Amino acid sequence: MKINVLMSPLNADELYFTGKTTVVIDVLRATSVIANALNNGAREVIPVGSVDFAMKISGNAHGGQTLLCGERNTVMIEGFSLGNSPLEFTQEVVQGKSIILFTTNGSKAIVRAKFSANLFTASYNNLKAIADHLLKLGNDVEIMCAGKNGMFSLEDTACAGKLISELMNGDKTIELADAAKASLVINNSYNDDLQIHLANTEHGQLLIQNKFDEDIKFCATENNIEIIPIFQDGVIKVLKQETE
Ligand code: MLT
Repeated sequence: MKINVLMSPLNADELYFTGKTTVVIDVLRATSVIANALNNGAREVIPVGSVDFAMKISGNAHGGQTLLCGERNTVMIEGFSLGNSPLEFTQEVVQGKSIILFTTNGSKAIVRAKFSANLFTASYNNLKAIADHLLKLGNDVEIMCAGKNGMFSLEDTACAGKLISELMNGDKTIELADAAKASLVINNSYNDDLQIHLANTEHGQLLIQNKFDEDIKFCATENNIEIIPIFQDGVIKVLKQETE
């Protein structure tokens, strides 16, 4: 298995992903939201690349069954039902619902990788489940960090490194591209409390400024969720696994 890390979605165009196995990571907060929403019973999450498209598809949706969700500059968009705080996506709120999700970086990164043969989303919350599944598949893996406005994001790269370290525990023959090695080095330097590391990132600081401290705590919780979010035909659902 070969692993590469794209430190920003701008490192590759849509066609790059054709036929690949890709994992998109946006720790703060889109892929943490997706894990929590699906784990709490949302029927599906529909990631979109623009607010206009989000509005358009929500206009065609059946009332009551769809929630228009997302953020700009971390704050809920006017007229939307929910923002992008994982704590909003409780069972009471999302059970059985289709979530249309627009976020500044995360939802766009997922849409960009739409031609992947296998496309998953990961955060610290469901990292182990994703690693176990990737090991089962045995394919080469592209890990795409959602980044921040096309730039590097420390928390996504550190999480990519953590995913790689999990994969290396299960497969001793893994080959790492340079960006994958660099991600691993960052993860290996994380020997303090993960919540503190996330809080000290640029985006962590912005979230704290906007009073989303509790979100950071949630996003720093490791492996509290066991589902595998898989993108197929424009929507993200929970992968149904065959029982052995
Ligand atoms: C993003 O996609 O940039 C985010 O998930 C931002 C956020 O809501 O914190």
